[in-house]
Amino acid sequence: MKKINFLVALFILTAGCANKTDNTDNLENRFVDSVVSRLTLDEKIGQMSQFTAVKIDEMENIASAGLMGSLLNEIDTVNINRLQRAAIKSHSGIPILIARDVIHGYKTVFPIPLGTAATFDTSVARISSRIAAEEASVYGIRWTFAPMLDISRDARWGRIAESFGEDPLVVSLMGEASVKGFQGQSLNNPSSMAACAKHFCGYGASESGRDYNSTYLTERQLRNVYLKPFAAAVKSGCETFMTSFNDNDGVPSTANQFLLRKVLRDEWKFTGTVVSDWSSVSEMINHGFCADEAEAAMKAINAGCDMEMVSQCYNHSIKQLIDQKKIDIKTVDECVKNIVRTKYRLGLFTNPFVKSSDQSASAESNLAYAKISAQKAAILLKNNEVLPVKNNIKSIFLCGPLADAPGDQLGTWVFDGDVSRSVTLYTALKNICSAQNIKLIYQPVLNYSRDKNTSDFSKAINAAKTCDLIIFAGGEESILSGEAHSLANLQLQGAQSDLIKTLKQTGKPLVGVIMAGRPLVLTMESDICDALLLNFHPGSMGGPAIADLLFGKAVPEGRLPVSMPRVSGQQPLYYAVNRTGRPASGKETLLNDIPINAGQTSLGCTSYFLDAGFGPLFCFGYGLSYTTFDYKNLQSEKKEYSTVDTVKVKFTLTNTGDYDGYCVPQLYTGKVSASVTRPVKELRAFKKVFVKKGESKIVDLAFTTSDLAFLNIDNKFETEAGDYNLWIADDSSLQNALSERFTIK
Ligand code: GLC
Repeated sequence: MKKINFLVALFILTAGCANKTDNTDNLENRFVDSVVSRLTLDEKIGQMSQFTAVKIDEMENIASAGLMGSLLNEIDTVNINRLQRAAIKSHSGIPILIARDVIHGYKTVFPIPLGTAATFDTSVARISSRIAAEEASVYGIRWTFAPMLDISRDARWGRIAESFGEDPLVVSLMGEASVKGFQGQSLNNPSSMAACAKHFCGYGASESGRDYNSTYLTERQLRNVYLKPFAAAVKSGCETFMTSFNDNDGVPSTANQFLLRKVLRDEWKFTGTVVSDWSSVSEMINHGFCADEAEAAMKAINAGCDMEMVSQCYNHSIKQLIDQKKIDIKTVDECVKNIVRTKYRLGLFTNPFVKSSDQSASAESNLAYAKISAQKAAILLKNNEVLPVKNNIKSIFLCGPLADAPGDQLGTWVFDGDVSRSVTLYTALKNICSAQNIKLIYQPVLNYSRDKNTSDFSKAINAAKTCDLIIFAGGEESILSGEAHSLANLQLQGAQSDLIKTLKQTGKPLVGVIMAGRPLVLTMESDICDALLLNFHPGSMGGPAIADLLFGKAVPEGRLPVSMPRVSGQQPLYYAVNRTGRPASGKETLLNDIPINAGQTSLGCTSYFLDAGFGPLFCFGYGLSYTTFDYKNLQSEKKEYSTVDTVKVKFTLTNTGDYDGYCVPQLYTGKVSASVTRPVKELRAFKKVFVKKGESKIVDLAFTTSDLAFLNIDNKFETEAGDYNLWIADDSSLQNALSERFTIK
């Protein structure tokens, strides 16, 4: 038996009878140190390399030499076991870490992360991630590159689809829940996967929303907004981090010592593994930040990037860099220890193989939960009393490019999703309508979201005129969202808007169902549709979920995790903005109100757009139900707090409508004045509350005064004394909010 394997076996034997003073960390560190101390330099470099799947023979040669630290995108379990055997038989004896992008489901596909965020229910993030881990791990996948924690405030950026939206609290809580789902109760359970907090950091602020573009975030913006979800991920025990493609203020994240050493390791005490993004090490040459592979490897390793994904700068350069004393072997050893530690925590040394018997089809119960999550994610933006579908509706005309698009409704980042188990809105409506003896006529009219062919419009109109209700199902093909798919124009693609306008001319009640990977511009559509239901690509069971909502078998409860724009030019768009010295009043003169031949004036100059006013079409936190809610009687325990205190408030929430339903009361705070300008309001707490019709509940919300800390004028991250506003509201517009002031002494 190889030295390493013998050692592993010995270690496992002794670990169980270690004396009680030996805590887990000591055992772990002793194991890791002992494994790494016996590796050759080649084997160390091998551990720092992640390969993407190629021909099995080629991979087996690398594995047999003990040079394959990790493998991405291999899903053949026979190959995985063959490679594991080769790796374990090698001198290093270290198993391979098998990775895959399991972002929002594996075989069973859940709503895209932006949809999960819209549930405002962290249990959906946790449970869906857990199911994904159970479905993926039986195929040998033990490392997923999720959750994506990029604060996303620009809908032009295609990757907003993968994010949990614009707000640091929502992104942090959803991220923590996802980590707990993926990693389970214990990381060394074979059904757990190492989670990966990505992309560290600031990628969502890519200038102009153009993917991979530079960012210019100050340390204040990083610490007050963009770093928060990643700090939460470390606290939740996230095992790995991934560096982001962007250069921030001139420094690519993959070699950013401030991020990877000062913040992640020194301040947050992170002990897991940092992996680059795909070729982001070698791409520092494209950035013009490195002259060649050797410099890229040197800068990345010295900054603390443990593993290189796919590009080969480490493999090609580490030896020479050590000889040239441009990197220290101790630094290499630290990288390798982090990687071996992650493998140890995953239990790979004792359980590296995939059991072929496990590849049972994912349970029907997983699909049932996919439907529940899609239902909870749906956001009702408008409803002129046409929903739920009334009893007098005896015929429905269904049309649009996403009505029967099983692949598109799954959304972006779906490699392994079982499209055959994806149920569309058309299929679901057929089932409901036949059960309720309602005539359903379906014509796609447009075959995909970019389709400009209007030749079927007249046939559609003729059919629609014979029906009592029209349902248009459109939005965005999944391929138009996600990585490298930025859009400068956020209108509905193709002839969708024209079709909606044409359908409106029939005079029939018109329901818009939108499935998309981002906030689209729906200004005209929201104006002419009688009801509008937004679903961020809802996943495998999007059809039944939406159909049940339309027919009132479920009540909409989703809320916007991102702001919906009036026009594309408003981007980036988010609620937590600073007031400015000339805040908009809401009574500004808009483009078409300006008199012709108007003279120059400097009166009324405030911060707004002549052609879009100020603010979103629908704001962060907004969403309708089939019922209504009333907030009353805000009470707080006190009005003065210390900087280390908990603010607790309670209020009465009443369901004043005709349906039982969920509400999402939100608590916002804003400092009246501070040492630096601050957002007018920031979400501090929220809760999803179920209230039966006609009933009331006392709801309590709380946050700690340390949550109010920010990087102040002295570059200290502290909670500042002073007066604060507090609002309890149904969304970030703060309309009809309950409010009070409190003071921190
Ligand atoms: C991609 C993405 C990253 C993903 C990785 C592996 O380019 O940026 O999110 O996990 O490569 O597929």
